[in-house]
Amino acid sequence: MSSATGYVAGMTTDAPSRETTLRAVAQTARWTAAARARETERPDRLFSDPFAGLLAGTDGPALLRHFHTAHAAEDGNPFLPIRTRWFDDFLRASVTSGRQVVGLGVGLDSRAYRLSWPPGTVMFEVDQPELLSYKNELLAAEGSGAGCQRRMVPVDLAQDWRARLLDAGYDPHDRSVWFAEGLLFYLPDQLAGQTVEWAAELACPGSRLAVDLIGTGVFRLRYLRTFLRRLERAGSPWRFATDEPARFVAERGWRVDELTEPGDPGANYGRWPERANTSTPANLPRSFLVAASLTERRHPGASATGARRTEPTEDTIGAG
Ligand SMILES: C[S@@+](CC[C@H](N)C(=O)[O-])C[C@H]1O[C@@H](n2cnc3c(N)ncnc32)[C@H](O)[C@@H]1O
Repeated sequence: MSSATGYVAGMTTDAPSRETTLRAVAQTARWTAAARARETERPDRLFSDPFAGLLAGTDGPALLRHFHTAHAAEDGNPFLPIRTRWFDDFLRASVTSGRQVVGLGVGLDSRAYRLSWPPGTVMFEVDQPELLSYKNELLAAEGSGAGCQRRMVPVDLAQDWRARLLDAGYDPHDRSVWFAEGLLFYLPDQLAGQTVEWAAELACPGSRLAVDLIGTGVFRLRYLRTFLRRLERAGSPWRFATDEPARFVAERGWRVDELTEPGDPGANYGRWPERANTSTPANLPRSFLVAASLTERRHPGASATGARRTEPTEDTIGAG
């Protein structure tokens, strides 16, 4: 493969040219994959992702170091592996035979391959067209088979993606399990809300959802300024934050079953130095993990925040 350089502003790395097709927020999927590859090498790993190194790309570790600088923690920020393991646990507990699973902003997540799925599981992978084609190309060359039926839904979530999911075979009358890991804070506020709300509208009672969210303190802490500036320069700024994660999810039709933070029971795994403090001062960064269920059918436009609709464009219909 030939080399190309400098696709993250302020950072020069050699990378296979295929990786240069991923830009801005799609690149974030490469460094979260690099974090999973690093975790996989640990003797005390919280999960094993044998595909993560391949998907992260040759310069994945450099990308990860660029965004998660060493001063955060010598052996890497423990939040990313805790988060991945928490989503793994959620999916293992929620997906039963024949279930539809929808990964929103699924990125380079290889759960379709690395987790063992009950018979009849169908996974809908929703992400940007170029990201999904990069991922599929590498996985096809690698040659392993997925442990469930995988269906691609290449869309821009800022457009109306609901018909695309239905076209891919999603059945709104059958129960589903939705997950959005490391996605919502990259979206503008209204879009983050709309995404969770549309999931509720497309799901039927008995369906489940897991998301992670960040608190607004992230944007006030001086310590995080370099990280946030790097994200912005790379074209993938963090945008949406809330200090009311349960309310955010509940107002969009979901009943919250679990709200936890790294360090708390259910999101510790012996890897977080201290329990989260619920009286954490507002300026400190917080990350929330929320699991929820749908108890009654959600009608379109039920909340004011989700009432604004965007229409599909030529660019996104049929893309990818
Ligand atoms: C930080 S990555 C997380 C990926 C994966 N869930 C993980 O945990 O590794 C964010 C993902 O959201 C996707 N994403 C962000 N904005 C999007 C949009 N408007 N439409 C579709 N996908 C989007 C990106 O392409 C990227 O794959």
